[in-house]
Amino acid sequence: MKEKLEGIKSEGLKGIETAADLQALDAIRVKYLGKKGELTAVLRGMGALSPEERPIVGQMANEVRNALEEALEAKKTYLAGAAKAAKLQNEKIDVTLPGARQNIARRHPLKQVLNEVTDIFVGMGFSLVEGPDIELDYYNFEALNIPKNHPARDTQDTFYITDNILLRTQTSPVQVRVMEKQKPPIRIIAPGMVFRSDAVDATHSPVFHQIEGLVVDKGVTMGDLKGTLEIFAKKLYGEDVTVRFRPHHFPFTEPSAELDISCFVCKGKGCRVCKGEGWIEILGCGMVHPKVLRGCGIDPDVYSGFAFGIGLERIVMRKLGVDDLRLFFENDIRFLKQF
Ligand code: DAH
Repeated sequence: MKEKLEGIKSEGLKGIETAADLQALDAIRVKYLGKKGELTAVLRGMGALSPEERPIVGQMANEVRNALEEALEAKKTYLAGAAKAAKLQNEKIDVTLPGARQNIARRHPLKQVLNEVTDIFVGMGFSLVEGPDIELDYYNFEALNIPKNHPARDTQDTFYITDNILLRTQTSPVQVRVMEKQKPPIRIIAPGMVFRSDAVDATHSPVFHQIEGLVVDKGVTMGDLKGTLEIFAKKLYGEDVTVRFRPHHFPFTEPSAELDISCFVCKGKGCRVCKGEGWIEILGCGMVHPKVLRGCGIDPDVYSGFAFGIGLERIVMRKLGVDDLRLFFENDIRFLKQF
């Protein structure tokens, strides 16, 4: 009996010592101290002992039980602590690690400058209108005094959809659409996409953007055109730029001109940006041709107007110092991030 108790004690303690987790520890408790446990069985069997043996064995059994219970308790505390420590270790967060950086979206450089241009004209009382990208030959050419077989058609390599329907090659057809619907006074700008069958290179793209402008009222003169566009150029490029109007030809304006600004990089001395010219062309303009007015039901003896067309990519390239048009369409974040 005594040996049996000693065996239980030493094996039990060994088991407790090697138990790797709380579950294993509890299994040991059940094995020795549970209802059907080994020590419990010994205590139950004490009735068979002689009265002299009983207290001795009883005391021994109690000692064994106390020893096991104490060891169980100590190990339990230890294992619980270890489990908690492991959990904490697992869940540890290093708050000093750098976070995952998000790329914050920003406006495309073309849109940024378009917004600036729009703000300048809206500030001068213009309103914003739009026209369709897919246009009738009539609006894109005919009504703008560019009849069939007119040489100006050759310079605008047109994407035709049918004989009559095409992708607009310019935003000028919006002028006609506005004048057909609205009686003067008219003061609008019309930004939008235009299309020409051009091969892509540093300065050409089959899709680009223009901003059309139109003013029609009684007594509008070339002086109004010059004043308005000079203010525009100075607001966009800086008060210190000077402008010059160079005679030009467009079928839908008479007279026609191109507007140059003094190079804002070299101030007119000649540099890489202005290609040594000292001047940079930024738009075409002119007084609306009487034929165009008449075609839209506006009497050219009563009303006159001026119009202009700005190439958006061009002015953005010049304003931001970008020398390859393709960068605007490639959507390379490294490029877009710079603006
Ligand atoms: N539509 C012309 C082009 O694409 C640009 C232009 C020139 C528009 C003179 C105008 C203008 O309104 O008056 O080349």
